[in-house]
Parts: sequence; structure tokens; C-alpha cells
Amino acid sequence: MEVRWGCFAGVFLVGLILGFAEISSGGITSSYVRNANLSLDMPLDSDVFRVPPGYNAPQQVHITQGDHEGKGVIVSWVTPDEPGSKTVLYWAENSEFKNSADGFILKYKYFNYTSGYIHHCTIKDLEFDTKYYYEVGIGNTTRQFWFITPPRPGPDVPYTFGLIGDLGQTHDSNRTVTHYELNPTKGQTLLFVGDLSYADDYPFHDNTRWDTWGRFIERSAAYQPWIWTAGNHELDFAPQIGERKPFKPYTHRYHVPYRASGSTSPLWHSIKRASAYIIALSSYSAYGKYTPQYKWLEKELPKVNRTETPWLIVLMHSPMYNSYVHHYMEGETMRVMYEPWFVEYKVDVVFAGHVHAYERSERISNIAYNIVNGLCTPIRDQSAPVYITIGDGGNLEGLVTGMTEPQPSYSAFREHSFGHGILDIKNKTHAHFGWHRNQDGYAVEADSLWLHNRYWNSFKASSVAAL
Ligand SMILES: [Fe+2]
Repeated sequence: MEVRWGCFAGVFLVGLILGFAEISSGGITSSYVRNANLSLDMPLDSDVFRVPPGYNAPQQVHITQGDHEGKGVIVSWVTPDEPGSKTVLYWAENSEFKNSADGFILKYKYFNYTSGYIHHCTIKDLEFDTKYYYEVGIGNTTRQFWFITPPRPGPDVPYTFGLIGDLGQTHDSNRTVTHYELNPTKGQTLLFVGDLSYADDYPFHDNTRWDTWGRFIERSAAYQPWIWTAGNHELDFAPQIGERKPFKPYTHRYHVPYRASGSTSPLWHSIKRASAYIIALSSYSAYGKYTPQYKWLEKELPKVNRTETPWLIVLMHSPMYNSYVHHYMEGETMRVMYEPWFVEYKVDVVFAGHVHAYERSERISNIAYNIVNGLCTPIRDQSAPVYITIGDGGNLEGLVTGMTEPQPSYSAFREHSFGHGILDIKNKTHAHFGWHRNQDGYAVEADSLWLHNRYWNSFKASSVAAL
């Protein structure tokens, strides 16, 4: 009996030490075990890639916000055989009267590929908080969809955003979209943090995989806006095959209302939506001092009126804080440039992708370092955002598994499983974030936290000041 007790005490002691080690290392490295097989892209004849029936039927229909306030929608689609109609018919639910808006058509060539007719049409001056139906196509091959405009921007407007990154078009990608669609906390708008189709992983960047991806996401993106951030897989820079213009397929296919926020490039822009102000940045465009992106962001951040839109959210592709081995420190140079502003302007949360895994940081900053003072370690900072890496959409490159050890103290939770996130804004002070792993039931949150608004909370000023 005594021996048994001694053994138990020993195990208890080891457990205590291990427990302490985990606490002292800061965050949690999840022990969840999943299937580590590499994902394959769904075959071209998969039902999710089905071409809609009818001659020249509009396909790859998707929408995004079309102005700065949320009263506009950009409707985009592709017709394969001929230009067809440029017109979108739209009408409010319960309205007999059909409005129309005319768009324009683009086409591009990429190596030996020629795109279909890519249509973009901006619908303006819609009513807030209203369901609209819309119709694209002509003659017998029209297709109808619907969307709901957001409420007028305001401080206490509840709204839910989905978060997906690095999606690709594998069976795992399909599971991620399905889990997002079936999540009982219905996402009303999707924030996409870059790396869309992964067409560039194919020989000659086979752009037919941009088309299949457009057909795959239509079931969600035709009904709710997907807000775009460009990733490295959107670059499609391939001088060896004569393709020297970065972002060519992406910028032809996915339009954003960048001029409405004073941006000079579709690769960075901002929108207001309900109680959120969303800034999408480009990790793969110049962001150093004096560059167009830098100058835009410098003017943009002071413009945010937290009384109107309390939640300040930044999207980018390459994370500024990442404790996985893969892509380690790739976001460091942008962090050096922009992190002081994120702290100064009290950004609530920064979402990124790129790393094919999930990670959430503590509220930390690392802005005191000035090359001689030796202060090169992130510190707790109540003015700092939470950084969330959500690059676990499920593309053909698979998950990253290598983590830096021990887990840095700035890393609160990390796990390499596929999934999506939901940011559920309740009011001007509280929002709930949940991370949903694909293997779980639709309502299960594998990680979650309450976000307290950085502007509308009475916490102490930045701890950096005390240094
Ligand atoms: Fe990436």
C-alpha cells in the first residue's frame, strides 16, 4: 500500500512539474491528433466544380462589398462562350420593381490559357439591412441568387464574420466550407486572409484551377460577401513562362472597392461593415516607409471613428506573430513597420493566414526595441491586438506540423488542424471568437476567447510606456 502511494505521489509530482512547465512556457500546444495525410485536390469532375447548365450560363458568381459603407455590392461572374449580358437585375425582397446595373467585362491570357468573359458590376445605394435578390445571365440561361446588406454602421450593431484562409480546393477545403456553412453561429460575411485557388501549384499555373475554385466557392460567395486579402499564391509571377505581371489572374477575377477608401491599389483597402472597420493589407506589395501602402495606412488609421465602428480589424496574409517553423519570421519586416501603429490605434484583432495551421497570441507587443536598448522580447500590452493565424483552410500543400519549441510566451494556443473561425460581435465592448476544427461537430469550438474592445474598455494605458 505504501509503495503504491509512493508511486502515486511520484506521478503526481511529475504531473505537477510538467504542468508547471506548460504554464511557465506561456500557452497551450494542443495535443489533438488528426489524420496527417496530404490532401489532394478534388478531381475536375467533382460535383462542386459542376458547370451550370445552359449555353453560356454565368458561373463562378461571387460578391464582395462595393463601397465603403456597406450600401454597395460588387457582383462578379464568368461567362465561358461569349460576353453575354453585362447587366445585373436586382430587387428587394417584397418588391415588385426590378432595378438594373451595368457592369463591364475583362479577359486575360496567362501563358497558354485564355480566360472566359469576366464580369464585374457594382450595385450602389442599396438599403441597409435588406434582403435583395439578383439575377445574372440572359435569355434562357439566367441564374438567381440573393444577399443581405449589412445594417448601417453603428457602435452596437451585432454582426458575425467568418474567417477562412489558404483554402485551395481539396476535400479538406470542401469540408472547411461546409463546416462554415453549417456552423450554427451563422457567419454573415467572410473575411478571407489570402491564398485562394493554389492554381500556381500546377504546371504553368494552370488557370483552369482558378475557374474550378470560382465554381467551388460560389455556393457561399454568391450569397454573402467574401472580403479579399491577397496572398503569395495570388502573385502568379512566372517570368520563365513570360508572365511578369504579379497578381494578374487574381486582380482580373476578384475586385474590391479600393478607391472608396482612398487606396491606389486593389491589393490594400478598407471597408466599414456594421460595427467593424476592416483593413486588408498586402504582405506582397511594398510596405516600407514612403511606399503607397505605407502612406495610405498612415492616413487611414487616424480616420477610423471608433464611436461609429468600435471594432478595428486588420487582415493580412503573412502573420506578424507565428511560432511554427514554417514561414517563421516572414512577417517580421511588416511587423517592424506597422506594429507601433496597431498599438497606437488600438487594433482589436489581426487575422492572417499563410501558415497552414491555427494559432492565437496573447495581447503582446514588441515595439520598444531600438537596436541599443536590448528590449527585443514581446511583452504583455493591453493596447496590442490579438494575432490569430487561420491559414488552415485545407489546401493541397497540407498542414504544417513543425513548431518552435518551447512554445514562446506570446503564443496562447496553437494546433495544426484544418478549420475556420467565427468572430461574433455582440456590441461595442464584447465579441466572441471561436475556432472550429473540421473533425468536430459544427457547434464545437476547439479554441475560443472573449475579445474586449480595445477602445471601449477602461484598461490601463500601454504597458510599453512603463519601460
Ligand atoms: Fe501563403
